[in-house]
Amino acid sequence: MTPPARVHLIAAARPNFMKVAPLWHALSAAPDFAPVLIHTGQHYDANMSDAIFADLSLPQPDHHLGVGSGSHAEQTGRVMIAYESVEMAARPDWLVVVGDVNSTLACALVGAKLRIPVVHLEAGLRSGDRDMPEEINRLATDAIADVLWTPSPDGDENLLREGCAPERIGNVGNIMLDSFELVRGKIEAAAEPAALGLTAPYGVVTLHRPSNVDDPDALLALVAALLAVQARLPLVFPVHPRTAQRLAAAGLDERLAAGGVRLIGPLPYIRFMSLVAGASAVITDSGGIQEETTYLGIPCLTLRDNTERPITITQGTNRLVNAATLAVALDDALATPRSARPRPKNWDGQTAARCVAELRRRAR
Ligand code: UD1
Repeated sequence: MTPPARVHLIAAARPNFMKVAPLWHALSAAPDFAPVLIHTGQHYDANMSDAIFADLSLPQPDHHLGVGSGSHAEQTGRVMIAYESVEMAARPDWLVVVGDVNSTLACALVGAKLRIPVVHLEAGLRSGDRDMPEEINRLATDAIADVLWTPSPDGDENLLREGCAPERIGNVGNIMLDSFELVRGKIEAAAEPAALGLTAPYGVVTLHRPSNVDDPDALLALVAALLAVQARLPLVFPVHPRTAQRLAAAGLDERLAAGGVRLIGPLPYIRFMSLVAGASAVITDSGGIQEETTYLGIPCLTLRDNTERPITITQGTNRLVNAATLAVALDDALATPRSARPRPKNWDGQTAARCVAELRRRAR
């Protein structure tokens, strides 16, 4: 009998875990595959990592590389060095990297040079904005990966336009939503709004992009905009560690709290999705939350000049805003009746199954 194909799955930072978990579960259930979970340690705080692993019923990683924080070069280099020795010893049949974080590119580079077949899950997304470190990670990872699994047709189009051979591309759909469906019952039972004492309509805020939080002037303008919104819609703001540092350094956390914005720490996945599911609107600069709100039909106001997920605007609930336009856009979003819309193709909770089928087809 042929031994099961060994698949390295790379998990590094918070948004990766929701992409890795459904695939890990699907591969674990398949007799012809043996997934190996590798955590690079890019995110390490309990609520940024362990609690999300627990929410998604992921086991302890088979390997923990413990790279931690650092500059882009430091973090990318440390992941490459640590993962290279794991991969050289193991020589897996497949390496799957997800998303667009520094560890995604680092492991893809290692795999490509060791001639291990590299698969990029969430390939083809493009913001067109090279000021975003993630855009560099996306472009470089897609250039060297053997197999490119896209979440939406714009991903296929971007890759084809860049000259990618069609046989490298597979539109598998949006894996994050598999995670939502995996624990939907627990999300519905979590009642996070009630646990936080929220009785009236509320909005949820998340911010962590360097372009918004690392520049003190940009951050100040956003804080003023959030305080203006707070007067109309009470806001709950689970604060990312990077943002917490920047807000505290400028004394802006106190200003937000004094204005009534509810600042809390990062939440694990189930509690966070419960909070989002009950919200009247979400204000964010995250990538994944643009998709989750589209899936749930909740208005999303994205504090960015561009998005690598345009389908959330053309077929979803997302709008791009800035500090100056946020309040008006929010009023408009709240005044617009919610209408049922078809979800984008393959955003159906079945992406992991398509990934497994794709791996089987490609192994033949
Ligand atoms: C990273 C990803 C980003 C993703 C985000 C999700 C890159 C280039 N960026 O950004 O694409 O959207 O994760 O959160 O890979 N910190 C902690 N505890 C942690 C993790 C980070 O305190 O568990 C602090 C550290 O001071 C660190 C800072 O947050 O320096 C930023 O973390 P880092 O992983 O460098 O980038 P993120 O902003 O989280």
